[in-house]
Amino acid sequence: MKAIRVHELGDPEVMLLEDVPNLVPGRGEVLVQIQAIGVNPVDTYIRSGAYPARPTLPYTPGLDAAGVIEAVGEGVDHRRVGEWVYVAGSLSGTYAEQSLCREAQTHPLPETISFAQGAAVGVPYGAAWYALFSRAAARPGEFVLVHGASGGVGTAAVQLARAAGMRVIGTAGTEEGRKLVLEQGAHHVLDHRAAGYLETIPALTCEHGIDVVLEMLANVNLGRDLKVLAMGGRIVVIGSRGTVEIDPRDTMGRNGSILGMVLFNATEAESRSMHAALGAGLENGTLHPVVGRELPLVEAAAAHRAVLEPGAYGKIVLVP
Ligand SMILES: NC(=O)c1ccc[n+]([C@@H]2O[C@H](COP(=O)([O-])OP(=O)(O)OC[C@H]3O[C@@H](n4cnc5c(N)ncnc54)[C@H](OP(=O)(O)O)[C@@H]3O)[C@@H](O)[C@H]2O)c1
Repeated sequence: MKAIRVHELGDPEVMLLEDVPNLVPGRGEVLVQIQAIGVNPVDTYIRSGAYPARPTLPYTPGLDAAGVIEAVGEGVDHRRVGEWVYVAGSLSGTYAEQSLCREAQTHPLPETISFAQGAAVGVPYGAAWYALFSRAAARPGEFVLVHGASGGVGTAAVQLARAAGMRVIGTAGTEEGRKLVLEQGAHHVLDHRAAGYLETIPALTCEHGIDVVLEMLANVNLGRDLKVLAMGGRIVVIGSRGTVEIDPRDTMGRNGSILGMVLFNATEAESRSMHAALGAGLENGTLHPVVGRELPLVEAAAAHRAVLEPGAYGKIVLVP
């Protein structure tokens, strides 16, 4: 089978499409024939060597995918050959024609969801769900600001928050992105490149302020987020690419909280709840992943450059 292999960490071009031996599932493992692969920013951090956890070389990148179960190992109870699944985490990597997964890393894909959409679920919807429900404990009726709502995590967060009865304000940096955010169910959209764009928050929230901020670029926005919080407001730092100066006093008067998170910290029990909720949402149509761009697997390097560029529009997906 063909797989992307990385023999040394570095620029996107270290990803080479190679012929490798077919994989065989061991005990409790599932072999998935991959139809589509989700490209996440974290894939680029790991490939470049910037991520704290370093892979053993050579390795195949990727955490997310969707495909058809090709074989199951001994002791696999809940998956069968021929079943369509989305993959959220993998033992062998997902940038390949086959991926080995633990049984619990595969989840049923409803027939209304395409493989490309299934590849957009794992990290983005997992992170959005974990931030919103596990870290921020967001409740129906609360005002949620999805700061960076046009990309993979943002579109997922808007859909999840809207379906749960929250008042949703999203931001995007382009006209197309802002249109997309409204289509995903946001009640209002703001341009995070416009000067003073958060000054409209008091009017948009009837002077209440924001209960929950889901923050995709904390190094740019954290100080300003603190100033638009409601009493008891929570900011979840999902993404950050540098340092930032804040005024800690801005947390005090509003009993504000800044909550960090990494999806990999979700416990097994949290992951079970997460994927049960995501599966239900995919099934009942409230969750509908947005695929903005599909590229062949051989163009993985171009996909890694594109996912870090401004002008996000849902997910970038690779097709083997
Ligand atoms: N903690 C975790 O476990 C976890 C999990 C998943 C992702 N993440 C991180 O979360 C971030 C988003 O991931 P993603 O997959 O959604 O990436 P993505 O698809 O590339 O989207 C990036 C988003 O950030 C927005 N953005 C750009 N400039 C911004 C600004 N000044 N203020 C607010 N938002 C801005 C983009 O908007 P425009 O392009 O429209 O300007 C876009 O909506 C990344 O940093 C990623 O590494 C963390």
